This record gives sequence, C-alpha cells and structure tokens, in this order.
Amino acid sequence: MKSFMIQGSKILATGSAIPSTSLSNDQISEIVQTSDEWISTRTGIKERRLLTGLNQSVIDLAILAANKALDKISMDPSNLDLIILATSSPNDLFGSASQVQAKIGALNAVAFDLTAACSGFVLGLVTASQFLRSGSYRNVLVIGADVLSKWIDWSDRSTCILFGDAAGAAILQSCPIEDNAILNFQLNTDGNYSDNLSIAYQEEIIPHPLLNLHQGSFKYISMNGREVYKFAVSQVPLSILKCLNSLKMSIDDVDWLLLHQANERILNAVADKLCISSSKIITNLSKYGNTSAASIPLALDEAIEENKISNNDIIAVAGFGAGLTWGTIIIRWESAILK
Ligand code: UT7
Repeated sequence: MKSFMIQGSKILATGSAIPSTSLSNDQISEIVQTSDEWISTRTGIKERRLLTGLNQSVIDLAILAANKALDKISMDPSNLDLIILATSSPNDLFGSASQVQAKIGALNAVAFDLTAACSGFVLGLVTASQFLRSGSYRNVLVIGADVLSKWIDWSDRSTCILFGDAAGAAILQSCPIEDNAILNFQLNTDGNYSDNLSIAYQEEIIPHPLLNLHQGSFKYISMNGREVYKFAVSQVPLSILKCLNSLKMSIDDVDWLLLHQANERILNAVADKLCISSSKIITNLSKYGNTSAASIPLALDEAIEENKISNNDIIAVAGFGAGLTWGTIIIRWESAILK
C-alpha cells in the first residue's frame, strides 16, 4: 500500500455483457395477465434478457463484462489491485467477487462484493475512487451485475415485467489530481423505507427443536412500485442538484443524464424536474428492462460504443433503489481513455 496522498481517478475502459435469451412483452403476456401496451406505456420496456440454463450465474456475466473492459485497453488482469462486484444476486452469500477474481486471473487483486441494489454501481465507483484518490491502489475493476430473474415471482405481474439480467464493468485508474474525472459524489440512505423494495429473509415459525434457532430462506422480490416511483422522482433530482452545487456547476453544464434504468417515465420526470432536455438522457431501457446494479455501466458502455459521449462531456450519473439508497456522481469524460 502506498502512502496517503490525494490523487485523481479516471475511467480507463468499460465493458458489458447480456445473456442471449430475450423475453418480449408479448411473451410475458403469455405468463401473466398483462400486455405489451401496458408495459410499454407504463415503463418504456419492450424486452429484457434472461440468464437461462443450468449452472449459469451472475459470475458468468460479470466475467464477460470484465474481460471486455480489460481487452479494450489490453490490460493484464494481474495489474488489478481491487475488484468490487456490486450485486444483490450473488451465487454465494459469502460473496461472488473472489470467484470473478480467480476466473479472470486477477490474482493480485483484493475482491469483495458490495450490496446496494440498483445503487450498487454508483456506490462501487465511489468506493473505488476513494482507494484510488488516497493512493492505496492504482487499478480498480468495478462490476455491476445482477440476475434478478432468479429472484422474481414469475406469477407477480407487478414485478416480473420490469427486471432483466446483465453485467457492466469499468476499470478505474489513479491519475494526477489535475486529470481527475470523477469530480464529486453525493450519497444517501434511508432505511425507514426498506420495506418498499426487498428480497426479504423469511424465518420458519417452528424453531430448531434443541437450539431455539429459526432458520429460513429468502423470498422473491417484493416492491411497492408507486412508493418507489415517488421516491425516485422526488429524491434523485435533489441529489443531482446537490452534487452539481458542491462543484459550483449548474444544470447547463450537464451533457448527459445517466440514471439507473428503472422506468422511462422516471427518466423523463427527473429530466423534466431538472429542465434537462430529453435529448441528453442516456437510455437503453426498452431493450433490457431494469438490470439493477448492471443498468448504469451497461448503458454507459453502450453510449461509449455508439460514440455518443465526447471528450470533456459532463455526465450526471445517478442510481436509486432498494435500501432505500440513492446517489449521484458527476464525471468528466476523457475521450483519450475510450475503448
Ligand atoms: O430498480 C428499483 C427501482 N424500481 C423502480 O423504480 C420501480 C418504480 N415504479 C414503477 O416503475 C411503477 O410503479 C410500475 C411500473 C412498477 C407500476 O406502474 P404504475 O403506473 O405505478 O402502476 P400501479 O402500480 O399504480 O398499478 C396501476 C394498475 C393497477 O390496477 P388497478 O389497481 O388500478 O386496477 C395494477 O393492478 O395497473 C395494474 N397493473 C398491471 N396491469 C397490467 C400492475 N402491473 C400490471 C401489469 N399489467 N404488468
């Protein structure tokens, strides 16, 4: 570990991965009572990807996304110092990051999971940048990956229409302070409303006969959609404004609005509240639905691949979701580090 000194941090490369199986709104309407019309108008989602097949897990998607990011800059995985896997759907409650570390050959990297639902990638980026800015580490891989299809009650039309599986990754590196690209962040948690969106652990009523111990298992996703919607539309604009204010920046400085891809109506309502033109919204919701921790890095990677984002563009990135957690990062993009 290096001595403490304030450095900058920047994103060197991104990568993403989606499963090959897609599920359209029409296909879902054969499973539950819904319609393409209802889903499209209420959410903007047309289809989503599902990780099907035996023994496929979030690790497989995370590895694909990580390798794509590494390949883009021809980085040897042994140069990674830290891997943060933001996921709420690990295939091991002790964490899945260490398996990703082993399978991509990043044997010098410390690896851990970070659980913060749909805000996970934002919190992962902020965590990574702290290690980089302090000088502790030089190269950090942040992955946002979720396979919530495994945690959905496929008979619940209020949730099963929303979610899809995916992974996205970003490689961050420390840099001189004058090149700093992760300009600032603003994070929040309010556990008072955690019941509005959860995958709760349910205990058996009857305890172990000798130990008075109640064991149990996790349930499916449960969500109060209206409350989560109201929370997102009221709190996310405030977080973005606070973050911009801390940098003495204004809405006019924002070139791109990259929100957690939960619902097209939420993206538009947040942009409206902030008076940001809809042409600045980055969205891929129609193709993938809500991919939880993967949604922001997946959309970022696609926008970069499509050459949407230019040198020095300011991106307001905001995540929100279960916890409840929400927060913003303001990034200044550096085209020299693309692809
Ligand atoms: O990533 C975590 C963050 N999560 C979110 O951001 C989710 C935020 N919430 C939402 O996106 C929206 O609340 C939903 C898309 C989940 C729901 O849209 P809504 O406009 O809030 O609908 P609603 O829950 O108020 O339901 C309206 C009606 C209800 O019928 P009644 O009570 O008016 O007769 C529902 O039963 O729509 C019904 N409904 C459906 N109808 C057809 C609910 N789901 C469906 C469905 N198909 N899939």
